[in-house]
Amino acid sequence: MRSARQKIFQGACGTMGTIDWLRKLGGISKMLNVALIGIEGFGRAHVRQIVAFANEGKLRCAAFADPGADPAGESFAALTALGAVRCDDDATLLAERPDVDAVVLATPLPLHRAMAIRALEAGRHVLVEKPPAVAVQDVDAMARAQEAAGRLCAVNFQNVSGSAFRRALELVRAGAIGRVSRIAGIGMWKRTDRYYSRTPWAGKLTLRGQLVLDGTLMNPFAHLLQNGLLLAEAAAADPADAEPLHLRAELYRAHPIEGDDTSCLRLATRGGVEVCMYTTLCYESNEPPAIEVVGDRGVLRWDYANRLEIRRAGGSAPETLQFPAEDLMRKMYSNWIDSIDDRAEPYCTVDRCRPFVAAVNGALLSSGGVHPIPADAVDIAEEHGNRVTTVRDLPELFREAAERSALLSELGVPWAVRTRRFSLEGFREFRL
Ligand SMILES: NC(=O)c1ccc[n+]([C@@H]2O[C@H](COP(=O)([O-])OP(=O)(O)OC[C@H]3O[C@@H](n4cnc5c(N)ncnc54)[C@H](O)[C@@H]3O)[C@@H](O)[C@H]2O)c1
Repeated sequence: MRSARQKIFQGACGTMGTIDWLRKLGGISKMLNVALIGIEGFGRAHVRQIVAFANEGKLRCAAFADPGADPAGESFAALTALGAVRCDDDATLLAERPDVDAVVLATPLPLHRAMAIRALEAGRHVLVEKPPAVAVQDVDAMARAQEAAGRLCAVNFQNVSGSAFRRALELVRAGAIGRVSRIAGIGMWKRTDRYYSRTPWAGKLTLRGQLVLDGTLMNPFAHLLQNGLLLAEAAAADPADAEPLHLRAELYRAHPIEGDDTSCLRLATRGGVEVCMYTTLCYESNEPPAIEVVGDRGVLRWDYANRLEIRRAGGSAPETLQFPAEDLMRKMYSNWIDSIDDRAEPYCTVDRCRPFVAAVNGALLSSGGVHPIPADAVDIAEEHGNRVTTVRDLPELFREAAERSALLSELGVPWAVRTRRFSLEGFREFRL
């Protein structure tokens, strides 16, 4: 049976002219021609990458689309300076620009499914922003479209590209810490009320009838959860063992929002690995989020500062690998381009995000919604005209919970709500 990558590769060759095909055989790739959909907001980070890669002669940018783009803005100017042409919308761009090989989608999350599928069905490769989809049926539909089109749909979960994380995956896969039983991530950041007023979908579960499910796990700490699940995948002897079977989650909010700003989750894979996550945007500062992987022969600790610590059983001194700061998006773009050219394995394809989307959807259903944290457990302060909301005692609670694979209700936190176990077996459709 051919691998998905072989099929993707075969599909890619199908649209190439003979000269491009011969260039490929000779190791010279056709220069990728990309289009960007969504150029403001986080799209600006994509504009910077596209400009850098174009200036290095590693890609071209023929077109872009964003009905909300400012024609006098920097993104607009930077893209038009590359020769890119503005199109009315993504569908028009796909129809009018057959020269575009691949599209980058940096649009709000409810738009990802339709835009990615349109592009794949039009024979284009895709790099879609994280999270790839809001609901499990969406990520499944995108994965099916990738498979059917034989094109690559990569997801910009850029924290998978850092050297420390790549090394952590290798070590776990090679059994360096033995059989893995537990993976625990903690993410604590400070976000003021401005974070929730920056865009209409921030902090919303739905917007204009569309699912958004914006919360700590779906959005700001999506990277942490995805990396935790990829570590579970690396720990699995058989890929089927990495499948999430059931979970229990508690979602809370201290801000006046619909989604959660504080959460905990415990998920079990078929292979018996527990993946626990503790995340909040109600902390007094920003800590580098970190994941600990516990095996029967040692413990790995990876964090967002590109650092990896390895403690082997037997009492030897811990080994710390501190990698320099890296441009993670640049590494994602390089990997995406190389994967399209079959020179690399993609770091993160849409099908490998299914456990992530299933977990985030399952978390909301397990939690039975988002529970308010009572005012007496919350501090609110003014800072430079912004409102800062913090939940008391969270660092200690999260650390204790992570060590015990516990949820906040199991620690006896007075405001915590005991929630139900949710089975992910046969979970094909999320409805709010
Ligand atoms: N990888 C990361 O670390 C990271 C960080 C921040 C945001 N993101 C992701 O980036 C995506 C965009 O987030 P954002 O905060 O920039 O959102 P946003 O609401 O600011 O929108 C981004 C851009 O998309 C444009 N847009 C809206 N509808 C469009 C349409 N129909 N066609 C074309 N363009 C359209 C908007 O005009 C805007 O310029 C989300 O998926 C978000 O989760 C990723």
